[in-house]
Amino acid sequence: MFFQQVVDGGCLSYVVGCPTTCTAIIIDPALNQTDRYLGILSREGLRLRYIIETHTHADHFSAARSLRAQTDAPIVMHRSGRAPYVDMHVEDGHTLAVGELRPVFLHTPGHTADSMCVYVNDRVFTGDTLLIDSTGRTDLPSGDPDKLYDSLFGKLLKLESATLVYPAHDYKQRTHSSIAQELENNPRLQKRDRNEFVAMMNSLNLAAPTHLTEALRTNLTGGKTVRQLLAEAAAQTPFMSLDELARRLEQKANDFVILDVRERDAYLAGHVPGARHLPRGQLELRVDEAFPDPDLEILTVCEFGKISTLAAATLRELGFRRTVALDGGMKMWREGGKPIESGDSPSAAS
Ligand SMILES: [Fe+2]
Repeated sequence: MFFQQVVDGGCLSYVVGCPTTCTAIIIDPALNQTDRYLGILSREGLRLRYIIETHTHADHFSAARSLRAQTDAPIVMHRSGRAPYVDMHVEDGHTLAVGELRPVFLHTPGHTADSMCVYVNDRVFTGDTLLIDSTGRTDLPSGDPDKLYDSLFGKLLKLESATLVYPAHDYKQRTHSSIAQELENNPRLQKRDRNEFVAMMNSLNLAAPTHLTEALRTNLTGGKTVRQLLAEAAAQTPFMSLDELARRLEQKANDFVILDVRERDAYLAGHVPGARHLPRGQLELRVDEAFPDPDLEILTVCEFGKISTLAAATLRELGFRRTVALDGGMKMWREGGKPIESGDSPSAAS
């Protein structure tokens, strides 16, 4: 069996393959590792057959859709998963044919209602149901400590004690554990009485995961993350360095326009000398009146370099083919001691 764990901070995902038939599955892929999965599959000569999500993640962005777009492999989730983009729903006891591998699904609600574990050969991928020395939390949407108790003590922990445990998270650089080790060492599993276990889970008072709202929004709806939007805009846009802009200021070319897209207050407080002002929010509506000539070289500028990238991508889409964005923003320009002008620019119509 081909097996590779992909570590992304505290998130663990897995590529598991059948070398005989050159087929593979990916479990719980993370969005910013998409290129790495594709690289592993290609390096190993494996074709991706299924993308498996152990549950709806609230703490990281899933790569399921970006992998599907590039491999055509269907996305598999438990029947109660609500995401509209799932291609195949499975239930407790179902299995998939992946060459000679037969991954078996165990429905293990508790961390979320749609949580499941995936059992393959000698190991079980536990998602967030069982972690090394811990368990998934039960205080996020659809979590239920009573159900987690049943899933753990009534199902998962009854697997052969030598079964290897590969969770979806570990924050201490551990790679795996086993059912026997967890039964012996996992502090949360020492509460074998249901009421004690539930009371413990209800009193954890954990902080909400970073990006909770955004992760649930994108994982449940199939929408894009803000980072994806920015990356797509950046991929369509060339950039200009701060030093190149300083050099251009001295040249004073007639067909070069610096366009500050921040709000008016920020622009008046200090901008690149000669910069014109058109806030991002009014860009599409006022651009034709502001720039009758689509052949101008337009450099978009904002505070941190993100909104200016979105603005540059929009201008390119509208036909201003020479638009570039400043690499960095006004913050770096100011901190670099470059020239600043405040108030309305004499040469710029706002
Ligand atoms: Fe989770």
